[in-house]
Amino acid sequence: MQTLNEFDQKTQETLLELEKTRKEFWNIDRNTANFLNMLIKIHDSKNVLEIGTSNGYSAIWLADALKHTGGKLTTIEFWDKRQSVAKENFKICKVDDVIETALGSALVILDEMGSEIKQGIREPFDFVFIDANKPEYIEYFHKIDPLLKSGAIIAADNTISHAKKVEPYLNALNENPNYQNQMINFEAGLFVSYKL
Ligand SMILES: C[S@@+](CC[C@H](N)C(=O)[O-])C[C@H]1O[C@@H](n2cnc3c(N)ncnc32)[C@H](O)[C@@H]1O
Repeated sequence: MQTLNEFDQKTQETLLELEKTRKEFWNIDRNTANFLNMLIKIHDSKNVLEIGTSNGYSAIWLADALKHTGGKLTTIEFWDKRQSVAKENFKICKVDDVIETALGSALVILDEMGSEIKQGIREPFDFVFIDANKPEYIEYFHKIDPLLKSGAIIAADNTISHAKKVEPYLNALNENPNYQNQMINFEAGLFVSYKL
């Protein structure tokens, strides 16, 4: 298990508390979180999108990396109570200044964000973390792909644990010549795709 040395004392305590309830809130495991944090730093991502906020555990790790790169996170959740808990956690961990929260269905919000990007009133995303409704992954991809430039990364969680449900997503990426892909054998399986 990775250490939490990256974080200040209060954030370490908060992350440890959140890890106690991670099955209830469907949070990613700490190794996946640490890897995503490092990947954002290595890639120097500036504009990250997360689909599936829950109580904010993964977003805290993503936002911490964005404090290093000078970037920002937009995170989508349709369950208002979960989003409220997440917002509290962002304040406690002092990452609320780099996070925009969006409340509603990802399928609707992605269309809205897509038209804002096309109009030039929103920056294109260079890193996307998908961790919401598994059968919808393929629909998220079809909405996100036209918005991504070459060099962008998509990371999708639960791609081993829910392999059957995400099969259309995995097939679409594996058959797409514009993407280089790698499955990483973390607890739930993280499928990382690089847009060529
Ligand atoms: C696996 S949890 C996210 C966990 C979070 N990424 C973490 O690791 O801390 C998935 C979340 O996505 C939300 N969700 C599922 N389908 C959604 C949709 N279509 N639009 C918005 N949110 C959705 C659920 O309410 C749930 O809180």
